[in-house]
Amino acid sequence: MSVQISPSILSADFANLKDDLAAIKDADWAHVDVMDNHFVPNLTLGLPVVERICQVSPIPIDAHLMIEDPDRWAPQYAEAGAASVTFHAEAATAPVRLARELRRLGARAGLALRPATPVEPFLDLLGEIDMLLVMTVEPGFGGQSFIESMLPKIERTRAAINAANLPVWLQVDGGISPATIERAAAAGADVFVAGSAVYGADDIPDRIAQLREQAARHSH
Ligand code: DX5
Ligand code: ZN
Repeated sequence: MSVQISPSILSADFANLKDDLAAIKDADWAHVDVMDNHFVPNLTLGLPVVERICQVSPIPIDAHLMIEDPDRWAPQYAEAGAASVTFHAEAATAPVRLARELRRLGARAGLALRPATPVEPFLDLLGEIDMLLVMTVEPGFGGQSFIESMLPKIERTRAAINAANLPVWLQVDGGISPATIERAAAAGADVFVAGSAVYGADDIPDRIAQLREQAARHSH
């Protein structure tokens, strides 16, 4: 299982996004959190900004849509250039149709679950998606602490992906830091989002390398 690091620009300087994207060029993805103030109680950025981010980023964009009605809006993020588009299971009306549409547009399709959403009802859909995101904080804000009780859900998801023998990535997002990434990796995650732990570091490339090394050492 290969480890991937996806720093969240939610903790970047929104007035200096180009430089802050260049600072994470050693990572695999740039994680962009889109919030609509309805699905979550926070508002970040939308389609025109994501489109420009896709143009200037040195690495592919991993868009995490914390929005209502992704059936209507998510395909436009694929068209804007996001290489991966993740929508929330709780918000989607027709997740299979939406995932197929994202793939048809050339993006990877991701399905995200809030902490209280069980993974079991979605396991039959693993063949329709490229990534499953287990949220390890309540979505909406950076800098929250990792919810330890998500570890069994990560383990069950990993077991189901392996049993199905599908190339689905398992992403974790929220509270990932040098203090928590090893437990998330040991539980079976392979794509790690980190916002405050990356942009709050004195040496950003060094922190990305550190997280990657820790995760690789504990993944199996
Ligand atoms: C939270 C977002 C996360 C956030 C993570 O709703 O989805 O991507 O940026 O921030 P940290 O790593 O600081 O918990
Ligand atoms: Zn996110």
